[in-house]
Amino acid sequence: MRILSIETSCDDTCITLLDAKKNFFEILANAAISQGKLHSAYGGIYPNLAKNEHIKNLPILLKRVLKKSKASKPDLIVVTSGPGLEPCLWAGITFAEDLAKKWKVPLVPVNHMEGHVLSVFAKGKKFSIPNLHPARGGASFPILSLLVSGGHTQLVLTKKGFKHEIIGETLDDAVGEAFDKVARMLGLPYPGGPEISRLASQARKFKIKNSKLKIKFPRPMLKSNNFNFSFAGLKTAVLYKIRDLKKAGQKLTHELITELSLEFENAAIETLVYKTAKALEKYKAKTLIVAGGVAANRHLREEIRKVSKNVLFPTPELATDNAIMIGMAGYLNYLKNPKKKYKIRANGGLRLGEMIK
Ligand code: KG4
Ligand code: ZN
Repeated sequence: MRILSIETSCDDTCITLLDAKKNFFEILANAAISQGKLHSAYGGIYPNLAKNEHIKNLPILLKRVLKKSKASKPDLIVVTSGPGLEPCLWAGITFAEDLAKKWKVPLVPVNHMEGHVLSVFAKGKKFSIPNLHPARGGASFPILSLLVSGGHTQLVLTKKGFKHEIIGETLDDAVGEAFDKVARMLGLPYPGGPEISRLASQARKFKIKNSKLKIKFPRPMLKSNNFNFSFAGLKTAVLYKIRDLKKAGQKLTHELITELSLEFENAAIETLVYKTAKALEKYKAKTLIVAGGVAANRHLREEIRKVSKNVLFPTPELATDNAIMIGMAGYLNYLKNPKKKYKIRANGGLRLGEMIK
């Protein structure tokens, strides 16, 4: 069956055409337009500006995908209904609804975070969601997922049948958001995660593991007896440090920015890895998935590998938002209940495991 998937939850407009049979997938065409450059001028995402860009980009991408795959119409359309920025989600949903009506094909909503969980199984042009048996090289249940993006920081436990349960999440900022905000304080371009990560990696290349100036930031919530995170305090600690340094007459030199990036990244990643290791132990998870934009972070990957041998990461291109993962999740949703007719609404705060009405 041919699945057209649409993703517009944040600042990337993405459309994919997948062919799916049982648990085998083939990417027939994949197209995306990133608004990263547009928003970088503002240091963040403006929902209404992003929405208008999505509306402009969607027909262009659809044309590209249909031309590349030489397909006239799909058998199924799937679209992200949340979580995300609601004006942006509506842009995708309205577009998807119009197409479903025109082509008379079913339309299924997708939870964006379920897409991130499944993103780790998409390798190359043809791939399968494995039989979830370790002997076949796949994942086995229960799966623990650390989902880390600009909007989310969650630990999700997935049991047989892809039943999800959130066991911990950030109480304030998402880790990607903290990376972006700290980068902004340091005068680095948006999105800040890759920039901070690049500077911190450079320092480590020269065998500098910790701040030479002995700058130390807090490791938030390490001692809390749960699986929640908090990054607002860490972000404020960086702000105060920069203020104190400036007051003392220090200039934000390249060296100082590198030191601050290194210590910030160390603090953020240490917290993520510590809580993940604790959750792996408590829930006896057999497979660990690390996905979402921040899963592209090299230091996170290295540190996570120290606590888990059976860890799956997405390819770097699929760590950030894409419609391939949305197509996979939408197809699984469709298979669960092929006759179901959905009334789709954008839900910015949609939670994983929640029924989509
Ligand atoms: O999943 P994603 O593309 O979009 C959301 O759903 O939010 O994630 C984007 C986030 C941004 O905050 C970006 O700064 C962060 O992922 N990011 C990184 C890295 N690459 C992207 N954060 C840390 N290190 C990276 N290498
Ligand atoms: Zn995302």
